[in-house]
Amino acid sequence: KQLAPQPENAKTQNLAPHIADAAGEQMNTNTGLPINDDQNSLKAGDRGPSLLEDFLFREKMTHFDHERIPERVVHARGSGAHGIFKLYKPLAEYTKAAFLNDTEVETPVFVRFSTVAGSRGSTDLARDVRGFATKFYTTEGNFDLVGNNMPVFFIQDAIKFPDLIHAVKPEPDNEIPQAASAHDTFWDFISLMPESAHMIMWAMSDRAIPRSYRMMEGFGVHTFRLINAEGKASFVKFHWKPLLGVHSVAWDEAQNISGKDPDFHRRDLWDAIESGNFPEYELGLQIIPEEDEFKYDFDLLDSTKLVPEELVPVERVGKLTLNRNPDNFFAETEQIAYHIGHVVPGIDFTNDPLLQGRLFSYTDTQLTRLGGPNFQEIPINRPIVPVHNNQRDGFMRQTINRGKTSYNPNSLGGNDPQQVKESAGGFVSYRERIEARKERLRNKSFFDHFSQARLFFNSQSDPEKNHIVDALTFELGKVKTIAIRERMLGILVQIDKGLATQVAYGLGLHLPEVLPTNQSIPADGDPA
Ligand code: HEM
Repeated sequence: KQLAPQPENAKTQNLAPHIADAAGEQMNTNTGLPINDDQNSLKAGDRGPSLLEDFLFREKMTHFDHERIPERVVHARGSGAHGIFKLYKPLAEYTKAAFLNDTEVETPVFVRFSTVAGSRGSTDLARDVRGFATKFYTTEGNFDLVGNNMPVFFIQDAIKFPDLIHAVKPEPDNEIPQAASAHDTFWDFISLMPESAHMIMWAMSDRAIPRSYRMMEGFGVHTFRLINAEGKASFVKFHWKPLLGVHSVAWDEAQNISGKDPDFHRRDLWDAIESGNFPEYELGLQIIPEEDEFKYDFDLLDSTKLVPEELVPVERVGKLTLNRNPDNFFAETEQIAYHIGHVVPGIDFTNDPLLQGRLFSYTDTQLTRLGGPNFQEIPINRPIVPVHNNQRDGFMRQTINRGKTSYNPNSLGGNDPQQVKESAGGFVSYRERIEARKERLRNKSFFDHFSQARLFFNSQSDPEKNHIVDALTFELGKVKTIAIRERMLGILVQIDKGLATQVAYGLGLHLPEVLPTNQSIPADGDPA
């Protein structure tokens, strides 16, 4: 079922009217006035003062003065590419999403890879999580899969995200360190936050220093829902599997590369695409029947847990190929606005409290970052289908809406958008039954912070385990406050005593006797 023309390069066509090629053209001002001299300002006499009258100078300088926009509050450093997604087999059994049902369609995509903590100009090789965000320009609107290269996250509840980011970003007094986790505020927070234990194992592993964006997995992290045409829902975890396999560099190499070529990943991605060596990833799904919601010893709504592939295999359902570099970094890679709330019929959310908070955060931050409510009109963000609704006006509005009515219902009519019924493909939220008390608590099914951290550590080969020990020793060795190092050992000992002992040895400390309590959970709550 397709609601609009096939997206045969639909995004390229959609971008075409906005592309400017100036070669050989007459230079003119923003109002179209031909410019005769762009090199000399208007002066009183050949050695005299510059004149306020010089509107050509003022236009050029004013635009330059306002060229910068705020960088992303997280994931500021990134690189993007265009591509296509092609489905292997129809998934009607699980979802009615059009782009997951038609194997003939090539859905255009734009992917942005990123680091999280560093600023726009920071090194690509920092020890950090990597973002892996994909915008699918489908015939039913944009679907954004805003994932990371690790399958879990540091926290279980979005309300802690500002704390996490304040802790990981450079310290507020001296803005040190840039793009590194080796500092007191980060480890202070982590050592007080046992729920981050699993993610910390990933962040201290080789996964945090990928060899290339082309050799990185991607994960949607949260459990999402797929809904089929009959309204039946399944839980789903999204994966990207790179066809080149997963590869990392060693920490010494990472530090060397950071010094010699901080653009290493950006350059690698660009050069690979320029030379026709297109990066490829398969979309993988772990599908969990709704009946199995409570089958596991972890909660599917807990983003600090993964679903082991031994329990639910990853089925590969389609291929993403990155085949075109952007024409303009700012217009495309910088101005793209991803949001996990950009879904299409057949894909829906769950009550994961991290996911739920993200649904608020992305548009909210983009209103500031991209200067007001019309950023969806920026070419890279436009869907390939036309947009018709009653939203109007605001800074930098581009669309010229005809007619008098921008309200619904109305009787004057003329140019009114019609609602699409569910049966015709309109989006309807999944009708989940909720019976609950309103309260600020976390279910006890979220309380086991260490089993999967241990599972991950034990899944590593001996050299990989050594890398984790070395990374923790290096990072904690930079922490000035000894009590934080000790408290962190108290977390590690609950993951694996051998690991904790080796790190303690590296730091010249003893393993602490007292184990920390979980600071994030209200002690007086009824977790039932
Ligand atoms: C970017 C918030 C968790 C992946 C961002 C941005 C914000 C944000 C404000 C900047 C967006 C922009 O300026 O356009 C949050 C909050 C989270 C959270 C509040 C938790 C409560 C996560 C998780 C993942 C993730 C769990 C991975 C599954 C990303 C990616 C980007 C991003 C990939 C960069 C998108 C791009 O390339 O433009 N996040 N985030 N975030 N976030 Fe999150």
